Amino acid sequence: MTLELKGITKRFGALTANDHIDLEVNAGEIHCLLGENGAGKSTLMNVLYGLYQADEGQILLDGEVQHFSGPGDAMRAGIGMVHQHFMLIPVFTVAENVLLGHEKALGGLSGAKQKVREISDRFGFHIDPDAKIEDLPVGVQQRVEIIKALSQDAKVLVFDEPTAVLTPRETDELMAIMQQLRDEGTAIVFITHKLREVRAIADRITVIRLGKVVGEASREDSSNELASMMVGRAVELTVQKSPPVLTDNIVEIRGLTVLDAIGQKVVNDVSFDVRGGEVLCIAGVQGNGQTELTEAIIGMQPRTTGSIKLNGLELQGKSVREVLDSGVGFVPEDRTVDGLVGDFTIAENLMLDRYRGEPFVRVGSIDRAVRDEFATEKLDAFDIRAQGIDTHVGTLSGGNQQKVVLARELGRPLSLFVASQPTRGLDVGSIEFVHSQVIASRDAGIPVIVVSTELDEVVGLADRIAVMYRGGVVGVVPADTSRDTLGLMMAGEPPAAAPADPTDPSEGAAA
Ligand SMILES: Nc1ncnc2c1ncn2[C@@H]1O[C@H](COP(=O)(O)OP(=O)(O)OP(=O)(O)O)[C@@H](O)[C@H]1O
Ligand SMILES: [Mg+2]
Repeated sequence: MTLELKGITKRFGALTANDHIDLEVNAGEIHCLLGENGAGKSTLMNVLYGLYQADEGQILLDGEVQHFSGPGDAMRAGIGMVHQHFMLIPVFTVAENVLLGHEKALGGLSGAKQKVREISDRFGFHIDPDAKIEDLPVGVQQRVEIIKALSQDAKVLVFDEPTAVLTPRETDELMAIMQQLRDEGTAIVFITHKLREVRAIADRITVIRLGKVVGEASREDSSNELASMMVGRAVELTVQKSPPVLTDNIVEIRGLTVLDAIGQKVVNDVSFDVRGGEVLCIAGVQGNGQTELTEAIIGMQPRTTGSIKLNGLELQGKSVREVLDSGVGFVPEDRTVDGLVGDFTIAENLMLDRYRGEPFVRVGSIDRAVRDEFATEKLDAFDIRAQGIDTHVGTLSGGNQQKVVLARELGRPLSLFVASQPTRGLDVGSIEFVHSQVIASRDAGIPVIVVSTELDEVVGLADRIAVMYRGGVVGVVPADTSRDTLGLMMAGEPPAAAPADPTDPSEGAAA
């Protein structure tokens, strides 16, 4: 099936998110949609999927004009979407989720189970139709989304940033699935910010910027060429930093252990130091305790034992409020859950954790002029693309939401900076910016801890690397450790020649 979008225009108030966009996707083609955060990619796909109505333009399937008043219409016409935030119901089984909304077409639960088995076999998924969604890893849940779309005989499949939450291995597997779908004749739209993925599987690449198509690119183009086409300027794809200059500031973590709700050790006896002036990256496959470790540092994990000393001050056992007040900046892994309040404006979000004192609060009421001046300055300094400081954060693109979190956390004096997946979902230009901010914190002489599942990011940012596996730290190694060694460590194998003292920060400085 051939999909044609002709002159699609979508406005939100004064903002034109899609400005006369033309896009053609053929059967048996993977068409990558590239563009910076806020360029209008998701909006365009939401128009295609019937979630939004275009103000102008047409959607054609095999030359016929379509009118979608909702996703149901789009699905019936053969359009499927694998959402980034899965739409599955966690307490339902795989088959129940696939059945949902399509009871008639699938012929009840037994029909749905049959369909799951059939599609699962075709792609070698090994998915049990009776498994509960909440028991499945993220990568498998995504396959259920794919099965759900294919069970509706989708001929056009949209993947909106499907790899952002996947492990490297899951990513490779997904790309193989997409290639198989393509070879079977599905028309695929693939949105990703990872140029490596684009260059690996794109048949065609369309670049959009500020709501307009700026042109087609080729997978033979270099990452630098693709990046500058997206952003409209040259982008530095490698992290720029000078050798670390260590200061006397220090965070000392000893025997940190975190239990989950059922008493299992999700962080197991972790010890390391980070000195001012260096970045310690915590690498590892998602789900090996990294999230809980950073949450324990800022006081969000109630079942924590051990010690976290920041310049001699014990943080363990303190409330989140007290930890933040002692100068810890924190970028949470999921900005939409812990980082921001979507219904608040940018200005309100920027002062979320500062409602208690000058300069924003005077005798219990907010000084709007001071707040607005602060917010305007941050909007500018962090290049937050929004109509103004009164824009609701929930309507910002992912990258711009992340910039609001960073602007808030880096906008006050810090003695420790902890960032979890700080560039997840960001475009290359924003990543360059975030990385420069992380390095600026380090160069200001505070300890910096960055959790990342992206090996490129870890290797680029780190002065030393700690690898976590099943709740423990497998080793702390210099930043120039080979990727092969890091890969093995991520699978639980200790480094061949372990550093004499893994908590000695001079180890990385010498590297
Ligand atoms: N429901 C909405 N109301 C108002 N503005 C919106 C809405 N949805 C999107 N926008 C705005 O439209 C523009 C395009 O957003 P969109 O989500 O399509 O970007 P994107 O290219 O998908 O970005 P990202 O790479 O960050 O996902 C942004 O400026 C965004 O703030
Ligand atoms: Mg998007």
